Amino acid sequence: PEQAKAFIDEQVEAIQAQVGDQKVLLALSGGVDSSVVAALLIKAIGKQLICVHVNHGLMRKGESEQVVDVFQNQLDANLVYVDAVDRFLSLLDGVAEPEAKRKIIGAEFIRVFEEEARKVGDEVSFLAQGTIYPDILESDGVKAHHNVGGLPDDLQFELCEPVKLLYKDEVRVIGRELGLPESMVERQPFPGPGLGVRCLGAITRDRLEALREADAVLREEFAAAGLEGKVWQYFVTVPDFRATGVRDGVRAFEWPAIIRAVNTVDAMTAEVPELDWALLKKITDRILAEVPGICRVCYDLTPKPIGTIEWE
Ligand code: XMP
Repeated sequence: PEQAKAFIDEQVEAIQAQVGDQKVLLALSGGVDSSVVAALLIKAIGKQLICVHVNHGLMRKGESEQVVDVFQNQLDANLVYVDAVDRFLSLLDGVAEPEAKRKIIGAEFIRVFEEEARKVGDEVSFLAQGTIYPDILESDGVKAHHNVGGLPDDLQFELCEPVKLLYKDEVRVIGRELGLPESMVERQPFPGPGLGVRCLGAITRDRLEALREADAVLREEFAAAGLEGKVWQYFVTVPDFRATGVRDGVRAFEWPAIIRAVNTVDAMTAEVPELDWALLKKITDRILAEVPGICRVCYDLTPKPIGTIEWE
């Protein structure tokens, strides 16, 4: 905590010196890194920071609401909330190929952010980013991971990256010290394309909703079991085929929900934890009882390699 306080003081001064009375723009996803950078900048320059949160409709249950609650209501930040749900979902309509979905989501994200940047463009000279040290080192050739890097040349910003020399666990300590809620600081990694790569094949709104609800049940039960921050990543995937079941004596023909939980150090290899049987049964019972459209629950036992962490 002492070191964290010193780091925060140092960065606050450095940010003030770098930015002066200029404005700074930040894409705030709600992830650990962008949230901590936002909190740091709010402490340093208050409303000179303009946070843009793009809701692409592929967030987990309650996440966009939490961003608004924490940053607008609690920290009194200058937050632009963009409801882009219909834009993303119409573009994705009928698109089944995973990398095509990723490209559409990544490109549209930049387009939406760029539109917001143009609206405030004249007043803003800095772009803040939640770059951390592993981002600088990392190169993963397997999937096209996206971030906000591809802004057009005529939008010229100087970068402000106050946590770029920190590792993830250090970023979490800073976030905690800055008063961010534990659920935000301990948030598990979440891919940029979000639930879009977990609603397998061509996304439909009803199946996306079933996925979001089932995933919320899983996260709730993991938190209740004290596994938040202990299992590296855990989520639900819903495939685009149906299975037969029987509900109240009547044939049901609904989607399966596939639970995935992994432990890893660097996401390059991963192991599946031996979850408590009672926990798995409780999650299964709750999903079957509470989530419309799901009639079967599976636990994916595949390590990486050969299976990647995400199904798409
Ligand atoms: P895979 O599925 O490649 O995932 O084993 C490794 C880690 O990366 C995350 N992931 C992504 N993150 N954009 C992201 O920002 C993506 O397109 C993407 N695909 C996978 C995945 O959640 C896991 O943590």
